[in-house]
Amino acid sequence: MQPLAARTGRISTSQTVAIDARYKELKAEGKDVLSLGAGEPDLDTPDFAKEAAVQSIRNGMTKYTAVTGMLGLKESVSRKFARDNGLAYPPSDIIVSSGAKHAVFNALLALVEDGDEVIIPTPCWVTYPEVVRFLGGKPVLVQTSYASGFKMTADQLGAAVTSKSKLLILNSPGNPTGAVYTEPELRSLADLAVKHDLYVLSDEIYEYIVYDGARHVSIASLGQEIFSRTITINGMSKAYAMTGWRIGYTGAPPHLAKAIASIQSHGTHHPANASQIAAQACLDSDGEFVRKMHKHLTECRDLALKRLAEIPGLRVLAPAGAFYAFFGIEAYFGKSYQGNHIRTSMELCQYLLDSQLLATVPGSAFGMEGFMRISFAASLETLDAALVRLQDGLSALK
Ligand SMILES: Cc1ncc(COP(=O)(O)O)c(C=O)c1O
Repeated sequence: MQPLAARTGRISTSQTVAIDARYKELKAEGKDVLSLGAGEPDLDTPDFAKEAAVQSIRNGMTKYTAVTGMLGLKESVSRKFARDNGLAYPPSDIIVSSGAKHAVFNALLALVEDGDEVIIPTPCWVTYPEVVRFLGGKPVLVQTSYASGFKMTADQLGAAVTSKSKLLILNSPGNPTGAVYTEPELRSLADLAVKHDLYVLSDEIYEYIVYDGARHVSIASLGQEIFSRTITINGMSKAYAMTGWRIGYTGAPPHLAKAIASIQSHGTHHPANASQIAAQACLDSDGEFVRKMHKHLTECRDLALKRLAEIPGLRVLAPAGAFYAFFGIEAYFGKSYQGNHIRTSMELCQYLLDSQLLATVPGSAFGMEGFMRISFAASLETLDAALVRLQDGLSALK
């Protein structure tokens, strides 16, 4: 039999997906497992969005739409970009895709060639380096630190640039750390991107989820030069609890938008009509759902930070955005319980899943050992019970 394409050897299943799969397996076996692993809001999709989708199916909106999405939806996205982000993307420069993940994939397909270097502040969302590698590019992982609030400085970016650098990926508010770049920080990164002729992919999927007065700023809004080299990506999954509907969207300069549209036309064509209709209903809504979600997540964050502060040895930085806590666990390395020796974040997370039936994600999955991530987007009862298990599991290690 002939071999698979060589590129398949350059991509691996995400560790976050692997842990979630094990969690689902245990659940299917009837075990009382709790998960703080998956990155999805616990609230349900708003009813008005579901209704709009059901109505559209009843009304027979079941045939192909334009490749880049229905015009009505792209007009809503265009208004949203202008209203919330100060970005002037006309509908013709907007592509609606099957989730922000798909939007990221499309953008990287359009940009990354063999040998191209892509600068990614790390820890980072697992998909970025995997896809860059898959496409023959080289992820240049710039290690941030607890001390810098997990943010890449302009000096670090400057030091990472080479003649092969093509693209910088930014994700603010960020997964897994919740780091939110301020406007001056973004300005200094934007200046360097312009100076070194880099494209910027700005993944803004957590934009509405910021705390303690932090403000989300779109890097593309900081001037015409950076606007013309930035691909702004966002989506419905986190803001409207619509992970399963698979709607993400991209605003890009015309030449890139055209290339991405061509790629999508031969890949997925367009996302499901009912999902597009539900997305439009959300983008045109009064924002009440987002406010409700924000209030809930703020309560979850408060509870998580309170409980984590009670556990000895953890190094916790209050996240300024998103719905994750990413904290240092090295104090537990070298300890053991009933033959479980903990040397890595993966071993710790496996131990917690097996001994406490608690799913979490190792920092190594995001490119930073010595840390782990929990998602606090859960009901307060579930979150509390899960954090008790975390505390029990950690205190049992000697
Ligand atoms: C940073 C980041 N970007 C994109 C996505 C994917 O979003 P979507 O569900 O729209 O594909 C995630 C999901 O976890 C994420 O954390």
